[in-house]
Amino acid sequence: MLKNLKLNAKLNVILLIFFLLIVAVTGSSLSVILEKNAQQVVADRAALIMETMLSVREYTDTRVRPELASRLYEEDRFLPQTIPAYSAREVFENLRKRDGYQDYLYKEATLNPTNLRDKADKFETEIVNNFKEQSDKKETRGFRNLAGQKIFYIARPLSISKESCLECHGHPKDAPRSQILTYGDQNGYGWKLGEIVGAQVVFVPADAVFRFSRRLEFVVIGTISIFLLLAIILIDIFLRLSITQPLRKMSQWAKKVSTGSTSEEFVHQTRDEIGILAASLNRMKVSLEMAFKMLNSQSRR
Ligand code: HEC
Repeated sequence: MLKNLKLNAKLNVILLIFFLLIVAVTGSSLSVILEKNAQQVVADRAALIMETMLSVREYTDTRVRPELASRLYEEDRFLPQTIPAYSAREVFENLRKRDGYQDYLYKEATLNPTNLRDKADKFETEIVNNFKEQSDKKETRGFRNLAGQKIFYIARPLSISKESCLECHGHPKDAPRSQILTYGDQNGYGWKLGEIVGAQVVFVPADAVFRFSRRLEFVVIGTISIFLLLAIILIDIFLRLSITQPLRKMSQWAKKVSTGSTSEEFVHQTRDEIGILAASLNRMKVSLEMAFKMLNSQSRR
């Protein structure tokens, strides 16, 4: 197929195929790399939030609760500030009030929660049940669609690791009076030691990160394409000016020489291969003319 094409067209076809190959290979590998990078970015954000919330929980558990523990049993007003789950959630709610964090969410999604705002929804219930079935699983992560948004999540199991938890989450009669007055005696009780009661879940909006990745991919592929196309155009112009045009002129000139309709030399200034060819042709023309002259003078005798 290439045989019937002109030199320029042949080279353009080869370069175009090469161009498409480069764009396809870079495009697909870039897409995989950027997708992975975007996932890593949202996963890192989620992990940072998870670790921060665990630190808040620990602070409440070791620093706040011991200070206020006695008041929990003496006063009628419950002090939720002593509860790790409460302080983590409240700290996070403050974060959500800041610009750019409205779509983030931290939840201690629980099947039978003390505070109903912690009630696991259908999706979270599935995560908790998964942790219950596979008790050695320490973390799960993935994507979830919420109100048309792509959300990344990390979840870790929440288990009752200490006997002391059961003071408030075991039988309601053991719980502080203030807790019963505030939360009632129906929710958040009957938990067992070692039981997985819920999952800590961090939700991080992922759409913006993936949109940025796609834009980056578009810009990189676009720039590569523009430069490759420019290279093809420049190669084409160069080939026309320095090879195909002189060759075409040379063949027209040779045709004229062969029919005897020109006695001019072929003018070509460059010293490249085309210039050397032109000089050889000119020498050949002179030899041809001499040969013709000799032939003519011999035939006249
Ligand atoms: C002094 C009583 C008390 C103790 C001790 C206690 N909790 Fe709680 N816990 C509560 C209360 C009250 C809430 C609800 C806080 C709120 O309003 O968010 C709660 C909330 C939680 C939640 C969030 C889900 C829910 O029920 O709303 C988890 C998970 C939890 N506690 C786990 C534990 C674990 C694990 C321990 C032991 C390490 C523990 N708690 C010890 C009283 C207690």
